[in-house]
Amino acid sequence: MEKITVQTVIECFDHPEELSGDEQMLLAEAKKAMNNAYAPYSRFHVGAALILENGKIQLGNNQENAAYPSGLCAERVAIFAAGAQYPGISVSKIAITARSLDFLTDHPIAPCGACRQSMLEYELNQKKPITVIMMGETGKVYRVSGIQQLLPISFSEEGLKKM
Ligand code: THU
Repeated sequence: MEKITVQTVIECFDHPEELSGDEQMLLAEAKKAMNNAYAPYSRFHVGAALILENGKIQLGNNQENAAYPSGLCAERVAIFAAGAQYPGISVSKIAITARSLDFLTDHPIAPCGACRQSMLEYELNQKKPITVIMMGETGKVYRVSGIQQLLPISFSEEGLKKM
């Protein structure tokens, strides 16, 4: 038996001001996007902003539905919209934030597993990592250097290949 240890490096900042200017701007865009979330059921508003290699910014926010599973998370709204509008253009970074109408989000909000899986496919296709920046309304900021950091063991196209 052999053990495989998987390590994820999370850069943790006390304040968003410690980020680079473009990352602070991206986080600010994510906050703007969050304000347009449609989340009447969870009352949990998530915003995502990604920047592409061509400098374009794509926003996303969670879009809920009375048929609950028909809704979609902010990160997937953003990355699918980018894929639809800018096919073949690499995504450089994504910032994610969230606010609840019922409590204070005082810690970084990390993307759910399904969003990690969706974003990973874009990262693998573009062969360049996508930096992820996460923050709540207040508190620390997390930054990871790629989606693979968040989903080190994953299912990908490789898994569909017949032997
Ligand atoms: N949500 C996101 O938008 N992104 C995530 O990564 C996790 C959860 C949304 C889905 C739902 O509208 C609300 O947050 C509560 O789960």
